[in-house]
Amino acid sequence: MFEEQIKVLLIEDEDFDVRRVENTIRPFENRIKIIDVISDGRSAIELLDKKKNFYDVVIMDFQIAGGLRGAQLIKKIKDFDSALQIIVITKMTVNITDYEFAHNLIEAGAFWYCTKYPGDIEQYIYQPTDFIMSIINAYERKKLIKEKQKSNQKLNRNVEDILANKKIIGVSSAINQLREGISKYCISNAPILISGSSGTGKELVAYNIHYNSLRKYENFVPINCGGIPDQLIESELFGYEKGAFTGAEKSKPGLFEMAHHGTIFLDEISELPLSAQVKLLRVLQDGEVEKIGRTEKIKVDVRVISATNRNIEDEVREKRFREDLFYRLNVVPIHVPPLRERKEDIHYLIDYFMNEFSIDMGKEMPALNEEAIKLLVDYEWPGNVRELKNLIQRLLFYDEKIITPQLIQTALGKRASLSENYFANDGLSFKSPEGPQPLKHMEKILREKYFKYVRMQSESDSEAAKKLGLAPPNYYRMCKELGLK
Ligand SMILES: Nc1ncnc2c1ncn2[C@@H]1O[C@H](COP(=O)(O)OP(=O)(O)OP(=O)(O)O)[C@@H](O)[C@H]1O
Ligand SMILES: [Mg+2]
Repeated sequence: MFEEQIKVLLIEDEDFDVRRVENTIRPFENRIKIIDVISDGRSAIELLDKKKNFYDVVIMDFQIAGGLRGAQLIKKIKDFDSALQIIVITKMTVNITDYEFAHNLIEAGAFWYCTKYPGDIEQYIYQPTDFIMSIINAYERKKLIKEKQKSNQKLNRNVEDILANKKIIGVSSAINQLREGISKYCISNAPILISGSSGTGKELVAYNIHYNSLRKYENFVPINCGGIPDQLIESELFGYEKGAFTGAEKSKPGLFEMAHHGTIFLDEISELPLSAQVKLLRVLQDGEVEKIGRTEKIKVDVRVISATNRNIEDEVREKRFREDLFYRLNVVPIHVPPLRERKEDIHYLIDYFMNEFSIDMGKEMPALNEEAIKLLVDYEWPGNVRELKNLIQRLLFYDEKIITPQLIQTALGKRASLSENYFANDGLSFKSPEGPQPLKHMEKILREKYFKYVRMQSESDSEAAKKLGLAPPNYYRMCKELGLK
């Protein structure tokens, strides 16, 4: 088997001791190689800085010339590269049964220590086989630590990638509070219940909690309780043993088992049938899963995040949802408000999605004219952020440089409701704080509103002119007068 040569840095200031180490290692020179010999601590640190990630093992004399030595030097080296292993060699003046001394070395980060000479050996390090074994073991340890560091880095990068893809965009105080809540509660294991209407970002919040928590390297297991037939949900959640019922040909792990050490995300929790609610309650109380067809329970350590777009308290009142389960799940309530209650986020979301999708689709980012932005801000967004996200993606398919309100309507595909909405939002109301207005003034207001309304209903200006029964030149003149152009 090919084994890599172990690269050693020797820190030793006395020539005859350097020779001693060299002599001891010589029979193993295929396996162990002293690359450099340095006589003081400071130069050693400089060299380690120059040759980063190069050496495997440092062998150092405990008492050397220069200011930097002993435990202090060990700590410095470890600060540099915590994977690097250090073997300390000392003179016989240090008693081999001096536990305090040994303890301090280990505390500082040394891997091993041995005695250079008990007097009668002149050519070698005392107990040369121990010395050699310690170098080889130190090397193995260094390799293991490096591998672990590498795989942790990889996992970290994965987590960072996931979080970059699951960014929560928004500047409203509601979103800021949400962010605060996430950073506050992610570290605990308390169950969280996220409420909010459809498309507000509940699942996004759940992801952010898990991937910012100490469980981030473990599984995040989402399940939509509303999307699975009642008779299957229990076997999904808790699994079953082979032969538990006809058709159970092999045993199946439940999602709780799969989420062991991680997080389970129970989406649409209010849809969970009552019988499964009872079982879930037991899992939460005991931390144990009862697998179908198995007598002993399975211990699980799972953090539970659930979400609902219904008013779950109503469900409790109506006895469709168990009250005791509700309290167990709702230890930390997080509410995600609808988009229409945080309109200042709309701009940022538009920009974010425009940018993301145009990169994805390899398209130039279009501009929105002012009316289009106003329309998007005024819109009620019944489908919340999801609706906005989908709309932006659809808009990019039109390949227009400028996005107009007309285009938005076409993309929304429900022109009437949007226009009515827009019209109603603008308030066709005669109430005015100044009381009744002269007819001329009111006519202008009405005309403006009506023009806007018809333009919303039209794909183009010429279509709008036609609907209004106006010749195009007149239409354009009136638009100008009304300040619409
Ligand atoms: N603040 C936000 N910033 C960026 N993207 C968001 C934000 N809120 C929601 N989204 C995106 O909108 C989409 C819908 O969000 P999500 O699936 O989390 O909603 P939900 O509340 O779980 O909806 P439902 O109740 O329908 O399951 C997702 O693609 C999500 O990434
Ligand atoms: Mg969801």
